[in-house]
Amino acid sequence: MGEDKISDQNLSIDSKITLNNDAKMPRLGLGVYQIPPGKSTEQAVTWALHAGYRHIDTAKYYRNEQSVGKAIRASKIPRKDVWVTTKLWLTDQIGTEKAFETSLSKLGLDYTDLYLVHFPVPGLVKRTWKTMEKLYEGGKCKAIGVSNHNVAQMKDIMSVANVPIMVNQVRCSPFHFDREIYDFCQKEGIAFEAYSPLTQGKQLGNAFVQQIANHYGKTPAQILIRWALQKNMIVIPKSAHQERIVENADVYDFELSPRDMKVLDGLSE
Ligand SMILES: NC(=O)c1ccc[n+]([C@@H]2O[C@H](COP(=O)([O-])OP(=O)(O)OC[C@H]3O[C@@H](n4cnc5c(N)ncnc54)[C@H](OP(=O)(O)O)[C@@H]3O)[C@@H](O)[C@H]2O)c1
Repeated sequence: MGEDKISDQNLSIDSKITLNNDAKMPRLGLGVYQIPPGKSTEQAVTWALHAGYRHIDTAKYYRNEQSVGKAIRASKIPRKDVWVTTKLWLTDQIGTEKAFETSLSKLGLDYTDLYLVHFPVPGLVKRTWKTMEKLYEGGKCKAIGVSNHNVAQMKDIMSVANVPIMVNQVRCSPFHFDREIYDFCQKEGIAFEAYSPLTQGKQLGNAFVQQIANHYGKTPAQILIRWALQKNMIVIPKSAHQERIVENADVYDFELSPRDMKVLDGLSE
């Protein structure tokens, strides 16, 4: 299962995006922020893998890396078929190598697919990136990137980088869309990853989104996820409920028209 459910063939969006180091990253993932460690996280990850997700987004800060790893191992899905992202916390930017090894050991994995600098620390942005490059060259993370970095911070990194930024994960939905960062990433070949794509649930009742959802016979959550996919983003909705996890992956059987994309784009203004 899995591979078939989130498939390549639907409505012109590949299920994977090719990063600038040629790694193939599944566009849709499960975010596990605020899912308590232990049984709740294990269950959510298990449901997601069962529903066809092949990408889990965690972080040291979420305290659930161990449960993510446990559920992935229990699934018996080959390691190479599941994309795992974790992140370097703010206070670990002195001692990055140790923090990375601790994350790996919590996950119980030999490598992560993507390691992200969770937040920029003023004054350390370039230095942290040089350490990320060392980790990448060591081979235990297959891709590296940043999160919550603005254009100036990305430019700072690029001024010293030997290894390019592969991904920038930023808060993004039609209600909160930073075009400057998005356009820069598109131009520079940095994959743009949308976090909090469902506005943490706050705008799912918005009348415009609901109207569009009614038109396609889909739910507001599916409309927001599809909007992100059609904008060439990676998107990582979080849910701790099985039916919603399934619902959030069922976004490949319709296509938002240019007009509806425009309406959604307009919601951030
Ligand atoms: N890099 C960063 O700084 C950063 C910051 C924030 C988030 N993230 C990542 O992005 C992921 C997603 O963002 P997020 O967790 O902030 O919020 P989100 O995905 O925008 O929204 C999650 C909320 O929406 C609800 N929900 C999910 N699917 C739904 C559906 N189909 N219908 C109705 N409600 C639904 C969830 O409730 P239930 O769980 O109760 O279903 C939860 O309350 C995180 O888990 C994390 O991996 C990264």
